[in-house]
Amino acid sequence: MKYEELFLMLLSLDYTKPVSDENVTVTDTAFGDIPVRLYLPKRKSERQRPAVIFLHGGAFVLGSCKQTPYDSLSRRTVNKLDAVVVGVDFRLAPQYQFPVLLEDAVSAVKFFLQDNVVEKYGVDPTRICLTGDSSGGMLAAKATQLIQSDPEFRIKIKAQALIYPFLQMLDISMPSHQDYEQGPILSRDVAVRLGSLYVTKDKALPQAIRINQHMPEESRHLFKYVNWSTLLPEKFRKNHVYTEPILGRLNPSYPALMDSRLSPLIDEDSQLRKLPLTYIVTCEHDILRDDGLIYVTRLQNVGVQVTHVHLENGFHGALSLMALPFYLDLGIKIQDKYISWLEENL
Ligand SMILES: *[C@@H]1O[C@H](CO)[C@@H](O)[C@H](O)[C@H]1NC(C)=O
Ligand SMILES: *[C@@H]1O[C@H](CO)[C@@H](O)[C@H](O)[C@H]1NC(C)=O
Repeated sequence: MKYEELFLMLLSLDYTKPVSDENVTVTDTAFGDIPVRLYLPKRKSERQRPAVIFLHGGAFVLGSCKQTPYDSLSRRTVNKLDAVVVGVDFRLAPQYQFPVLLEDAVSAVKFFLQDNVVEKYGVDPTRICLTGDSSGGMLAAKATQLIQSDPEFRIKIKAQALIYPFLQMLDISMPSHQDYEQGPILSRDVAVRLGSLYVTKDKALPQAIRINQHMPEESRHLFKYVNWSTLLPEKFRKNHVYTEPILGRLNPSYPALMDSRLSPLIDEDSQLRKLPLTYIVTCEHDILRDDGLIYVTRLQNVGVQVTHVHLENGFHGALSLMALPFYLDLGIKIQDKYISWLEENL
């Protein structure tokens, strides 16, 4: 059995059933073709409610909004905010590849943002947040970019929350990739192996990514958006020395690698400027740390309002360990800070 299949099987043992409780009605349903889990507050409300759409992590190949920690986060969000929460079960790689996961996520969000749907669930269309962790953070970041700049969406997103997001596949040798190559939780090797399955099953891609020689010659102009020697705060650069990428070594080249639907970090300033209120969590001990830090810099540079939480003792995936049997304090802290931010800002 392949590593990711084994992992998927283990995770699926952790999938919860849609069980309602005294405060929340939980149902598995679909928005168009996309399976979603809906969490609706039971309490009667005088006014319209805020809503959170949640996109789960799992390196594009694993996971579900039904996993115990996500289910528990969703219930807590309903209880604390009197909000409607939607967990989206987009299809997964390697069976479905770029850009299917994003398209599924966007079509679920689009379904929810229809006037009659927000009305049906008593949602205030001016108080909707898109949230995602890890690879789900990438889907949330890109979906937010698409919706904010697409005139077809009349209802916009009020806020986005990105928890240790994956945001780019151009440069996999940033200081955080080097310093936390062995993890904890997410090693560079596993991230490259699983992440590249979203693009192709061809083994040549992860091999080239590992030595950071996977980008095509025509991508040179995009590196200014991920240039950590200018965009990463000095404290995180430490003694690392920036080296120019080596381009054009990989055949065939994959158009996805130059696409901001895979790497939202390479969207242009003129697009980033349209982004809403943003919450970003970065963890110190995380290969993806610098993706998040650079996004914070880029968004602040164009005037987007960003709340940045950096956890010095944090590591990737902590949120997924806050429930049984781990009850990890760090995961609970990430949850509580995020929910407090929602209470104040959504
Ligand atoms: C339901 O809400 C009440 C009041 O906020 C709370 O005390 C109780 O623990 C909640 N029940 C569950 C199952 O979460
Ligand atoms: C990255 O930044 C450094 C320092 O400013 C600069 O010398 C280099 O040309 C930049 N490289 C790219 C690819 O943007």
